[in-house]
Amino acid sequence: MILEATDLVKVYKLPHARVEVLKGASLTVNPGERIAIVGRSGAGKSTLLHVLGGLDRPDAGQVVVDGEPLYGRSQRIRTAIRAAKIGFVFQSYHLLPEMGILDNVMLPAMTGVTRMTRGQMRARAASLLEQVGLGDRLTHKPLELSGGEQQRVALARALMNAPALILADEPTGNLDRSTGGQIMELLFKLSLTERLALVMVTHSPETAALCDRELELSDGLLHDRRG
Ligand SMILES: Nc1ncnc2c1ncn2[C@@H]1O[C@H](COP(=O)(O)OP(=O)(O)O)[C@@H](O)[C@H]1O
Ligand SMILES: [Mg+2]
Repeated sequence: MILEATDLVKVYKLPHARVEVLKGASLTVNPGERIAIVGRSGAGKSTLLHVLGGLDRPDAGQVVVDGEPLYGRSQRIRTAIRAAKIGFVFQSYHLLPEMGILDNVMLPAMTGVTRMTRGQMRARAASLLEQVGLGDRLTHKPLELSGGEQQRVALARALMNAPALILADEPTGNLDRSTGGQIMELLFKLSLTERLALVMVTHSPETAALCDRELELSDGLLHDRRG
């Protein structure tokens, strides 16, 4: 099992309200498995992904990634586990605009979790950009690329530390249908070649249908859509 999340509870306490977003959601993900998370806007899908990836602490419950519990330990350890084992892809790319795309892709390796030399990092980043079809754009900055190209850079960056799991939050949400389709194709291809597990929030029934499992987040719980 690459990820095991148990009884996740997340409550946002605001001065004027209390929003229970997760009310005991559980999920297991096997190596190479592809899981679609669906649900209406505001259901808590982004919150769930943040908690699964160690970006946002739950109020109760635990997430174990490749045998390592994320919560109840130091921030430093959680960050190291996340950097080594999980790649993130967001709807809005989250690239650093002032850096070239090669440097953007190298960033996850610069956090000190790998033993790669700088030269090895450059070589790996260049080879990942090659794999996503941007081998001839290494010196470009993100804003000199189209949205689809920027998302391909983000995919390469997510793969930099050779994670076992990718968490993707509406990765094609800002793209037109055909460009989004290409990104999905690439993501599925990479999940096969790299034996990557994929947990992906999507609004596209076509994309969800391609996944091994389809879970709906509603009322703070995950429900299997295929029974
Ligand atoms: N940082 C936050 N502070 C307070 N409330 C939040 C915060 N983030 C999300 N929420 C609330 O939690 C609910 C779920 O949000 P979110 O996880 O973004 O849903 P989804 O991704 O399914 O659209 C929403 O009602 C939202 O307003
Ligand atoms: Mg969201």
